[in-house]
Parts: sequence; structure tokens; C-alpha cells
Amino acid sequence: MKILFIGDVVGSPGRDMVKQYLPKLKEKYRPNMTIINGENAAAGKGITEKIYKEFLELGAQVVTMGNHTWDKKEIFEFINDAKYMIRPANFPEGTPGNGIVFININGKEIAVINIQGRTFLPPLDDPFRKVDELIEEAKKRTSVIFLDFHAEATSEKQAMGWYVDGRVSVVVGTHTHTQTADERILPQGTGYITDVGMTGPYDGILGVEKDAVINRFLTNLPVRFETDKKGRTQLNGFLVTIDEKSGQASRVERILINDDHPFFG
Ligand SMILES: [Fe+2]
Ligand SMILES: [Fe+2]
Repeated sequence: MKILFIGDVVGSPGRDMVKQYLPKLKEKYRPNMTIINGENAAAGKGITEKIYKEFLELGAQVVTMGNHTWDKKEIFEFINDAKYMIRPANFPEGTPGNGIVFININGKEIAVINIQGRTFLPPLDDPFRKVDELIEEAKKRTSVIFLDFHAEATSEKQAMGWYVDGRVSVVVGTHTHTQTADERILPQGTGYITDVGMTGPYDGILGVEKDAVINRFLTNLPVRFETDKKGRTQLNGFLVTIDEKSGQASRVERILINDDHPFFG
């Protein structure tokens, strides 16, 4: 089976790219399932119920989140009803929402897990111990396990990849908003990429209007960061092919669509 993943969708430029290209990607790759990281979908910060529903209507089965999960206050009103949205599982016990979801695709279950790293990010519960727990839970139901590891440090993401090699089908890194060219299949069969990248502004800095970020570096003064809406746009994604029986990845492919890497249908 094939799973398509779309990296951190940033604001309306990102949502527009999903609208424009998700149908084309589905036609080209025929994924059995689509997952979108939506932590920046609402103007770069968090997600609204309307956007979450829009992603499902556009054909995503699961929306994953990250450190920006709580940026829009309305999240607390709908997260417990949003069955197909997951937030990092290693927030403390009692945090609203879930970090794992099971999706049934043509009679086959797929577990999707979202975990957050804690290097250069808030000190959540241990992501490595948490992933052990969730893998054990998932294995009772399925061999196909998809992990979105939302983390800053390349080393922490690589460590997670090797730590779960052979126990999950694929680990995609998210959060840094810049796609890495290290997609591979680890020796025990886990597909891996350090970061899928982001979907949205192509001429900003990690999705943010670039002059504001440059100014921050020049002045060290507080600067308001807004999603870049003036420049060109991009879509960053990842496609993994998984053997349903063994749960092992057999093929991984980066997807990059922008003016320098045009889409060929
Ligand atoms: Fe992000
Ligand atoms: Fe993030």
C-alpha cells in the first residue's frame, strides 16, 4: 500500500497548494491513504475546525500536528471530537486529544502516531519511551505503523529512526520546514526521512514573510511574524510504499513541487 504525506501546511498559501496539487498527486501516485501535517495551517499558527474539515474533504484521512497544536484557542473546543486529528502523544497525561489513531483502508488497519522531540523544543515526556508504548499498542492491531516525529534536531530524528527500525513502517520528520535529501529505507525495513519540509510560501523564511525574519536577525527586537503571501508557493511531501503483511517499507520518494522543481503529472 502507498501512503502520501504532506509536510507542514502553512497558512492560506499552503492550503491553496494542497487544493491545487493533492488531486494531481493522487492521480499520479494513487496513494491508499493521505496524511497532512496541519500544525501551521491557520495563518501559520495552529489549526481551526473549518480547516481540519477542509483537509478531510480534500481527501486526507489523518491530520497530524506538532508544537503549534494549541496556538488557536478554538482547538480546545473541537480536538476531542476531531477523531482524525492527532497531536504529539508525549504531552503530559490528561492533555486533550490523542497521539495515535487507527484508520481502516479496505479492511486493513493503519496506525498513525504523532510524537514530538524535546531537543530545542519544550521538555515533553520522553518520546522514545512513549513510542515504545504506542508501538506495542499498535502491534496488537496492525503491522502498518506510520510515525510523524515532529522534532527540531536532526540527531534526535535520526536517533528515532534507528530506534524504531523494524518496528514501524516509516518515520517522517516534520517541523523544520526544510526538506532533507536523506530519504532511505533503514536495514530492518523502516522508511525514513529527517524532514519532509513544508507546504506554502516558497519565497519566505520557513513560511514567514522574509523581511520580518531578516529584521529580527538585524535588530534582535521583537518582530511580528506573518505568513508570506507575496511570493511564490511550494508543496513538500513524501510517498512511501509499504508491504501490508510485513509492515516494511519497500520504496520511499520525496515530493517537491515549486518553480525550481515543476510538477510532472
Ligand atoms: Fe511546522
Ligand atoms: Fe513545529
